[in-house]
Amino acid sequence: MAGNDNRRVIAVADPAALATAAAERVLARIATNSGRVAICLTGGSSPKQLYQLLATDLYRSRIPWDRVHWFIGDERFVPAGDPLNNMTMACTAFLDRCAPASNVHAIPTSTADPADPDRSAALYEAELKSFYGADALDHAHPLFDLVLMGVGPDGHTASLFPGYPAVEETTRWVVGVPRANVEPFVPRVSLTLPTLASCHEMLFEVAGADKRAILTRVLAGENLPAGRASSIGETVWLVDQAALPEDFRG
Ligand code: 6PG
Repeated sequence: MAGNDNRRVIAVADPAALATAAAERVLARIATNSGRVAICLTGGSSPKQLYQLLATDLYRSRIPWDRVHWFIGDERFVPAGDPLNNMTMACTAFLDRCAPASNVHAIPTSTADPADPDRSAALYEAELKSFYGADALDHAHPLFDLVLMGVGPDGHTASLFPGYPAVEETTRWVVGVPRANVEPFVPRVSLTLPTLASCHEMLFEVAGADKRAILTRVLAGENLPAGRASSIGETVWLVDQAALPEDFRG
C-alpha cells in the first residue's frame, strides 16, 4: 500500500490486552530516548484504559515523568474541564496524578475570546514549533517519539475527517476544523497529517466489533484519513480480535 509500507498490524485478544500491549510500547519507546521525550496523545474512548494503566504503580514507577512531555493530536473545542475535552480526559485518567503540569501541553480552547478554533490552532502550532526548536519539520529529527491514534466510524483520525480540506493541509502544523463529521458536533482543532507523521512511532488502538467494518476499509487501502496517517518511522495498528478484519484472522 503506497505510503504505508511501514505499517504493521498486531492482533491482541481483547481491550485489556490491547491496553497492556500499548503501555509496553509506550515504555519501550521512552526507553529509546535518554533525553526529552515527546508523546502525542489521542482522544476518544479507545485510549482511556491505556491511560489508566499508565497511572498504576506497575507503569507509573517505570516512567521518567520529569522528562516526558505530553501533547494531544486533536481537541474538541470545549473548555478545559468539560467532559468532552480530550486533554481533560487524559488528565483525569493519569496526567493529573503523574506528570508535572509544565510537561502537559494542552490545546488552548478558552472561550473568553470569541470561539475561534483557528486562533487556537495557531497558538498550538507556535507552541509545537517552540518545543521543536524550528519552524520546519526535519525527517532526521521527528517532533514526537510516539503518536497515539484512533479511528472513527467514518475513517477519520485525530479530527481529520474524510473529504475535509484539513486532510490535504501540508503547510500548517495545526488547523481549526469548524464542523465535525461525527459526534460530538463541536468545532475541533487538529494536528495535520505531516505533523502527526513526524514521529518515531505512530500507534493506533482499535477495539470492538463496531470498528471492524471501518478497519476493513482502511486496511484495504481505501482513501480515508486514518489510512493516510502514517509515521516517517514505524506505524503500528494494535487491534483486538473483535475489530480484526476477516483477512487478518488466523
Ligand atoms: C476525538 C478523537 C478521534 C478518536 C476517534 C476514535 O477527538 O474524537 O481524537 O479521532 O480517536 O474518533 O474514537 P473512539 O476511541 O471513541 O472510538
